[in-house]
Amino acid sequence: MLLRSAEVSSLKSLGVYFLLELKVERPFESTPGQFAMVEVPGRTLMRPFSIFEVEGPYVRFLVKEKGKGTQELKRIRPGVKLKALCPLGKGFPLPEEGTKPILLAGGVGIAGLFQLAKELRRRFFQVQLLWGERGASWFPFTIVSYLLRLGVDLTLCSEDGSIGLKGLLTDLLPPFGEKNVLYACGPKEMLEALMVRVPSGVKLYLGLEERMACGVGACLSCVLQTPSGTKRVCVDGPVFERGELL
Ligand SMILES: Cc1cc2nc3c(=O)[nH]c(=O)nc-3n(C[C@H](O)[C@H](O)[C@H](O)COP(=O)(O)OP(=O)(O)OC[C@H]3O[C@@H](n4cnc5c(N)ncnc54)[C@H](O)[C@@H]3O)c2cc1C
Ligand code: FES
Repeated sequence: MLLRSAEVSSLKSLGVYFLLELKVERPFESTPGQFAMVEVPGRTLMRPFSIFEVEGPYVRFLVKEKGKGTQELKRIRPGVKLKALCPLGKGFPLPEEGTKPILLAGGVGIAGLFQLAKELRRRFFQVQLLWGERGASWFPFTIVSYLLRLGVDLTLCSEDGSIGLKGLLTDLLPPFGEKNVLYACGPKEMLEALMVRVPSGVKLYLGLEERMACGVGACLSCVLQTPSGTKRVCVDGPVFERGELL
């Protein structure tokens, strides 16, 4: 059963983000890139969030406030009981030995790549991670310092130049070739730009965000037309290899 009872164990504000931690009744294992549908008190539809981190019964989500649902979640207090469907979808396949992964995170896209960075470092891969935000204050210090301690080769990109490299992440890509595997999570425009800019010989995995109502393949609210037919992002993705989409 994917439906789990959970209790909010903490909620920490991290600048423009907040970290929601749930304690679930039945712990589970997840693949980096998988997601959960999380109940929002008072709302009929659950909301999809990447599984940022799992430690025993504790599951964490890095959330950016967007509309009513995420505003409601930001006000939630420890002790509140809610339901979550998890783990859902297909995550990122790990790279073959000898390849060099490059992770590309646009904004809250870091939430979908954080577990991957941890797993790759655990397997002794050299990990290059570019993370783009609007400006310095958007980067949660605790996450940046954690990634650095993990040994990730981290490049921060800011649109206003207040930290790291100035500009859009898609204009600041490092040199790469067929020995690299690229993993990207971020806004639609960023993923579309990457599909154009990254040559077809280079493996590129994309974590997509589509509006989702059920998260389990039943409602068809997340369908995507691809050359190989209709895909439901919640069950056929959210991670797709670029070739599946073109
Ligand atoms: C697989 C997946 C992983 C995601 N991971 C994260 C994450 O880790 N952190 C994070 O902050 N956000 C993440 N999102 C986006 C997040 O789900 C939306 O920002 C959130 O649902 C907005 O809800 P709302 O009620 O605040 O906004 P509203 O705009 O009021 O939402 C109205 C409805 O539209 C849906 N919706 C709105 N925007 C999105 C969106 N971008 N993607 C999917 N559904 C949307 C909502 O679920 C809701 O049903 C993810 C989305 C998907 C599909
Ligand atoms: S969200 Fe219902 S089918 Fe994908």
